[in-house]
Amino acid sequence: MPSLGRLKRDGQAIAMVTAYDATFARLVDEAGVDIILVGDSMGMVMQGHPHTLEVTLEQVAYHCRCVRRAVQRAHLVADLPFMSYQVSPEQALVSAGRLIQEGGAEAVKLEGGARTVEAVRKIVSAGIPVMGHVGLTPQSVHEFGGFRVQARDQDAAERLRQDALALQDAGAYSLVLEGIPAALARQVSEALVIPTIGIGAGVGCDGQVLVMQDILGLNDQFRPRFVKRYAELAEVVRGAFAEFAREVRERRFPADEHSFTEAPARAVGESSGGYGPST
Ligand code: KIV
Repeated sequence: MPSLGRLKRDGQAIAMVTAYDATFARLVDEAGVDIILVGDSMGMVMQGHPHTLEVTLEQVAYHCRCVRRAVQRAHLVADLPFMSYQVSPEQALVSAGRLIQEGGAEAVKLEGGARTVEAVRKIVSAGIPVMGHVGLTPQSVHEFGGFRVQARDQDAAERLRQDALALQDAGAYSLVLEGIPAALARQVSEALVIPTIGIGAGVGCDGQVLVMQDILGLNDQFRPRFVKRYAELAEVVRGAFAEFAREVRERRFPADEHSFTEAPARAVGESSGGYGPST
């Protein structure tokens, strides 16, 4: 993605947010966020799993199509889910191609360092931009023994630096750095030409990404250190549903203004919104 490279060269930080449906994707797009990621985090925030491992390629493609319809401006990236690219570079290319053709994504993201470079090369050779992802890669949760900060000792930090360089050499156009010490993330970002996008990796990255539900405070039971909530919507949403239920039970909803008359007199611009009667 040439424009992301330019943002890095110009010293402008890149904002990336996840989305999984058309309603929220439109809002993220209209807010001016640079990149929308249809992340396999959908396994946790949409499907309610404790990890991302059960997400399938079909599910990512489906959610990506939903998001695609709403996005007019932002760069759209889709995650390659667990076991959709690890078997062989050929499998990786076929999976990536499906997210482009069926999902409408403009790029794919995959997790892992040196062990993924052949897959990255293969996908890039077909003209599909690849975003890498190293550090706390959630698809390796069992290898890590949990969602733990990575690369805290010197050897692991050196391996991560080498992984980042290998991905850049293989043709990745950007790199997510997740759950690593801030000083290491800054060094890696300075060493690479391609932009890094951090999550739990400090302010020294070229951009930042957060999961939409975390930004909005939609899950009030989840408050890890790396998340900053920009709204507290869980309470607002619960309150709205509770008020709706109360008004229904008290027969205060629908009021006259929400009801239709026998002789329709349609006002200019009046519309049902598409999934109900209009007059
Ligand atoms: O799946 C996801 O949402 C991600 C981001 C958190 C980087 O990979």
